[in-house]
Amino acid sequence: MSQKRDPQDSCILVTGGAGFIGSHTVVELLEKDYQVVIVDDLSNASEKVLDRIDAIVGEERAARLSFYRADVGDRDALEAIFDDNQIDAVIHFAGYKAVGESVKKPIEYYGNNIGSTLALVDVMREHGCKSIIFSSSATVYGDPDSLPLTEASPKKACTNPYGWTKWMIEQILSDLHTADPEWNVVLLRYFNPIGAHPTGLMGEDPKGIPNNLLPYVAQVAVGKRESVHVFGSDYDTPDGTGVRDYIHVMDLASGHAAALAWMGGRTGVEIFNLGTGKGTSVLQIIEAFSSACGRELPYVLEPRRAGDVTANYADCSKARDEMGWEARFGIDEMCRDSWKWQSNNPNGYEG
Ligand code: WQD
Repeated sequence: MSQKRDPQDSCILVTGGAGFIGSHTVVELLEKDYQVVIVDDLSNASEKVLDRIDAIVGEERAARLSFYRADVGDRDALEAIFDDNQIDAVIHFAGYKAVGESVKKPIEYYGNNIGSTLALVDVMREHGCKSIIFSSSATVYGDPDSLPLTEASPKKACTNPYGWTKWMIEQILSDLHTADPEWNVVLLRYFNPIGAHPTGLMGEDPKGIPNNLLPYVAQVAVGKRESVHVFGSDYDTPDGTGVRDYIHVMDLASGHAAALAWMGGRTGVEIFNLGTGKGTSVLQIIEAFSSACGRELPYVLEPRRAGDVTANYADCSKARDEMGWEARFGIDEMCRDSWKWQSNNPNGYEG
């Protein structure tokens, strides 16, 4: 059974820790005095984020961060990391995450996301580390029968291989605990993570044309893209456009720190929704970002995007009642911080 330990005595492995949510979580953990190890193959992240983390947390805390450039599916690399570090728990972000790309590349998505997870938990088991927080997603709820979504809402068929990998990895980790009750598993189901670190030094930096709404809107705002393409304006929502539960990435980061503190000394499998409990439409996002950047952003109405659900938003009372966590920031702060990041870094980390 994992022992409850103070952050100062705990070493946390963060897979995918150079990515968008991973890097913001690493900052949160370092600021809580954890020792942190990042493993990331940089396939969808920039090594420059490490300098930004150092700049945000300062020299003393940055000394408690180490980085390994490696594929989480590379067992030898994982063995070396666990040999070199006394890992107390793992936060598992690493994985391919583009919904549309996953439809075109199922072998790569199942191979990478599932294969790397199996390698990770096997090496964890060999080293007696059985505490894991998994980066799951509201996408496992599929097209909801009712809203808001609670953790008891049924998991439904996913509409793409990316979503199925989240669905399946939740099952794999649950089966792990069934086989060995010493496992300590927390499944965090994120809704829609957006925003950036309030310093403007870190943020979302997708490669190529952004799949997700916010980075695309931000690139329109900074002049890299001509106009926002609104996928569907005939949904059964107040203004006809899709509704989602957008959550500030800093709230998501604090949710991981809360889960780490909560799970110490426990065993079992626990699910928590991480959202705000509020639904926001595409047009409302465009309006909020227009306010944040100080100009009206152009948009065009397009047909619906295949696989999109009309609406989803969370009931997060379980995280509040059990972990004492709830989201602090609203849409205006999310757009303000996202705009500060994008305007200070028009080409992301590559400058
Ligand atoms: C949000 C809304 C679109 C782009 C997915 C994954 C989730 C998470 C986030 C990975 C929808 C509309 C979008 C655009 C638009 N995982 N939209 N124009 O699809 O809710 O969630 O990404 O990071 O697990 O399922 O996010 O930002 O793509 O879409 O109108 O250019 O914005 O139709 O209503 P989604 P999204």
